[in-house]
Amino acid sequence: MDGSLNITDLLARRRSGYSLERPFYTAPEIFDLDMQNIFYREWLFAIPAAQLTKGGSYVVHTVGDYSVIIIRGQDGVIRAMHNSCRHRGSVLCKVASGHVPKLVCPYHQWTYELDGKLLYARDMGADFDASQHGLKPVHCRELCGLVYICLADEAPDFDEFAAVARPYLEVHDLTDAKVAHVSSITENGNWKLVWENNRECYHCSGNHPSLCRSFPLDPDVAGILPDGSVPPRLQAHYDRCEAAGAPSQFKISDNGQYRLARQPLQEGAVSYTMDTKPAVAKNLGRVALQDAGTLLKFHYPTTWNHFLPDHSITFRVTPVSPTETQVTTTWLVHKDAVEGVDYDLKRLTEVWEHTNDEDRVVVENNQKGINSPVYQPGPYSPIEETGVAQFVDWYAETLERSLTPTRLAAE
Ligand code: FES
Ligand SMILES: [Fe+2]
Repeated sequence: MDGSLNITDLLARRRSGYSLERPFYTAPEIFDLDMQNIFYREWLFAIPAAQLTKGGSYVVHTVGDYSVIIIRGQDGVIRAMHNSCRHRGSVLCKVASGHVPKLVCPYHQWTYELDGKLLYARDMGADFDASQHGLKPVHCRELCGLVYICLADEAPDFDEFAAVARPYLEVHDLTDAKVAHVSSITENGNWKLVWENNRECYHCSGNHPSLCRSFPLDPDVAGILPDGSVPPRLQAHYDRCEAAGAPSQFKISDNGQYRLARQPLQEGAVSYTMDTKPAVAKNLGRVALQDAGTLLKFHYPTTWNHFLPDHSITFRVTPVSPTETQVTTTWLVHKDAVEGVDYDLKRLTEVWEHTNDEDRVVVENNQKGINSPVYQPGPYSPIEETGVAQFVDWYAETLERSLTPTRLAAE
């Protein structure tokens, strides 16, 4: 890390309302701290449950050093476990997704039940205790069709977030969804730059011609004001949607880790399509107002989402290296919607395919400029970039808290 700087000094001298110093976006040491103290500790959005269509369906999700199998049991329950055999450690699932009756290690064929219990291990002797050699579990929770995992030994509380988010999510019926499309791209930028870019639309008019057909830029409808108040037009939208049964009020957690709010789209626009008309003829969910706009949800450090009356989109952020981040986008439609009949895949996906690629370019340009030694932290717009400042404050406070040794009660 630059000269004699250490993380405590860097955090202590950080100016709130300014971008971070260069090592936060470039240094392998800080990337490791981010992984150890944030990604290996917090709840992480992993996949929509609809991705696992039946008992035995699995995906492998890699987070830093960890490879995790997320699998649906024959009982319908989704579980997560480490992808490392309890014999000599081989990975069990070699491919990113599939369907298996049991989990069989490719090395010596130890065979595990879908819940991780060891069923069969050949020639291990009379004293071998199979019950002590099940796959190591990973914390896993399904919330209204969204699967979260936590890699920590002891997971932080999930229930408070679940209780707040459940009413907003329930009306979107993600448990009745199917995956229409998944796209995964790698952006050559630090994961925090991906988030900073996501948390503002200051860049939208100059970079997102497709998205701007439907997404509003007017501060009166695009979000709460810098003083934290809700503009009257936005409040009127929340109230109208709530009267129609769709929870919508702006809600942010005390520590700033997650937020929910239903935002209108441009006047007359109802979905993220080039003509701003619905993308899917058969709605996913029970949001009766076709112009309800988009329920926006973010949950740091891994996900932002858009839930529309006709379809939903999940986004997942996975850091790969100090300057590489994987962004995975999943489009969900009603499970009975038929491609080519109820929706056209290109029409459904093109606005966000364009937008993701445009975001990739601006994030990569941002990273390249920060790589120069001349870079110094710059000020966020107090009108347009309050969300960015909020993310960076959350990040710095979360890292700071995790680095502070817990004081003993007796002290
Ligand atoms: S390492 Fe899995 S069976 Fe040997
Ligand atoms: Fe963008």
